[in-house]
Amino acid sequence: MLSRLIYASAVADDLRADELNRMLAHARLRNASRGITGMLAFDSRSFLQVIEGSRRALSDLYAALLRDPRHRDVQMLKFARIDARLFPDWSMGFMPADLTPRTMLARHAPMPHFDPGALDGESAEALLVAFGAALADRTAPVPLH
Ligand SMILES: Cc1cc2nc3c(=O)[nH]c(=O)nc-3n(C[C@H](O)[C@H](O)[C@H](O)COP(=O)(O)O)c2cc1C
Repeated sequence: MLSRLIYASAVADDLRADELNRMLAHARLRNASRGITGMLAFDSRSFLQVIEGSRRALSDLYAALLRDPRHRDVQMLKFARIDARLFPDWSMGFMPADLTPRTMLARHAPMPHFDPGALDGESAEALLVAFGAALADRTAPVPLH
């Protein structure tokens, strides 16, 4: 059953950039082998992630995510059965949220700073779609897979 899960979490205080990059590379390989696609938005405080795939694969990954010490305060914002993926091309797209235009945040999430834990599921999804479009629009090649 194809499904979509969106959650927000708080970045662990001691998470280093090189650790995040290693985690992302591992996640992309792992997702590709499990039929999971999605997008991870990040700033120094928060994560917002959407994962799409079979309900079984998403449940297993979410269970692992809840135990992962690299973040805390994990909140599920949305879980839904879907007919088609919003992010079919990325084993895990990555968007540094503090590099996105303020106007994009303002359009989808009127908040003074990136605070995904305060969003409802629909706003979170709309914001992630906007991030995905911004990533796809970049002229410089980004190593996304
Ligand atoms: C913010 C965040 C996002 C993550 N995203 C993914 C992901 O998309 N796919 C994945 O396999 N692991 C992801 N992880 C890592 C998982 O929590 C977990 O460590 C990993 O799936 C376990 O892999 P292993 O069984 O190969 O050790 C993420 C971790 C964090 C902190």
